[in-house]
Amino acid sequence: MAAESPVNRIGEALTPALLGKTVALRGWIHRIRWSKNLTFIVLRDPTGIIQCTIRRNSPFFEPSKNLTLESCIAIRGTVKVDERAPGGQEVAVESLDVVGLAEPFPIAEDQSTPLKLDNSHLWIRSREMASVLKINDSINEGLRRFFRENGFFMVDPPILITASVEGGSTLFSFDYFGKKAFLTQSSQLYLETFMASLEKVYCSAPSFRAEKSRTRRHLTEFMHLEAEEAFCDLQGTMRTQEEMISYVAQRLARENSHELRELGRDPGDLESIEAPFEKIEYGEAVSIVQKKGIDMEYGDDFGVEQERSLVEDFNKPFFVHSFSTQAKAFYHRPDPANPDIVLCADMLAPEGNGEVIGGGERIHKLDVLISRIEEANLDPASYEWYADLRRYGTCPHAGFGLGIARLVKWFCKLDHIRQAVPYPRTINRIYP
Ligand code: 4AD
Ligand code: MG
Repeated sequence: MAAESPVNRIGEALTPALLGKTVALRGWIHRIRWSKNLTFIVLRDPTGIIQCTIRRNSPFFEPSKNLTLESCIAIRGTVKVDERAPGGQEVAVESLDVVGLAEPFPIAEDQSTPLKLDNSHLWIRSREMASVLKINDSINEGLRRFFRENGFFMVDPPILITASVEGGSTLFSFDYFGKKAFLTQSSQLYLETFMASLEKVYCSAPSFRAEKSRTRRHLTEFMHLEAEEAFCDLQGTMRTQEEMISYVAQRLARENSHELRELGRDPGDLESIEAPFEKIEYGEAVSIVQKKGIDMEYGDDFGVEQERSLVEDFNKPFFVHSFSTQAKAFYHRPDPANPDIVLCADMLAPEGNGEVIGGGERIHKLDVLISRIEEANLDPASYEWYADLRRYGTCPHAGFGLGIARLVKWFCKLDHIRQAVPYPRTINRIYP
């Protein structure tokens, strides 16, 4: 931190406590206009925006005509009441320093989405993105608190790995000193190893999927919150998930009502998310979709269209559980009473959002795991260490993975997942 004279925050300057007082502010020029006798600057810092005025008789009036949008400036001045100003208070500027003068800013108001995406590194300053970033921060803080209060340890599994988790078609591979390696699609398999050491564990790490489909909810890189619990079954992990989502939603409604409103989300919507969530079986979900005339066979996983038609019947998050074995990855535990079904669940969010969490019980018996690995045409040699967990003191366990960007999209009522992250990576975008 710089050892300078104290600087105030804009949020502070907007409080009655600082009325009539001198403040020092610094930030970026959010808006600027000039009249014959006054320059109006709307200054922005992370805590808000405030109007700053420079009078004609000030030595800074003439120089202020050269100021530009997004220039970084530092000012001193007196806080005054002004009913027309946003926030009801403004600063009458007494001194002004230009920290960094901006060239003409490439993003104007009402700019097209491609242009914003081409300028993600500058769009990050928008009020909209700042609200999304604050909410993302708050969601992560809520998750950390939830897990700590519930006895989970946070751990850090590796990202560079040698075996697929969610099937070969979406694996990114790269050359690792002459060996083929992959970017992880999910930290689940490693998280299971931590589970046998600490019982209740979670991680927040990037996952990568070479998703070739262009949808409103697929990225090729996303932050993945995953958790694993020893001695836990399908019912138990669904309980953890619904309690976690309710906790985070209600905390967000309390702590970030301002940002939520700014993005068009009524905080009351999140306040009312409360466990337990409705739970329907996969077979029932398939018939709902089929009855609407949407193409789907028993045994398929839900595609975007199938999920949309299912979700429109719900106005709260809900679970679909006990999927057909052929619809899911090799590690899901078949139901001992009916091996055609796996003991897993997806949590689906309303308002057209669809899947936000995938999880369930893991196979904990060695012979069952080996045969599922073979049925899935995977190389058992790549999963030797994973199979070892079933050799050395195995136990029933369950867990899940939550896509943070999908949660942000849902909570912030965004149309597209690329609005939920600062640097969306998709099939045709890796720059900036
Ligand atoms: O359903 P998925 O593929 O499940 C797993 O990866 C499990 N191994 C997780 C676990 O049990 N530990 O992915 C989990 C979640 C999805 O529900 C979704 O929210 C998110 O990760 N996700 C994506 N988010 C953005 N873009 C993508 N391409 C995503 N793929 C999955
Ligand atoms: Mg899934």
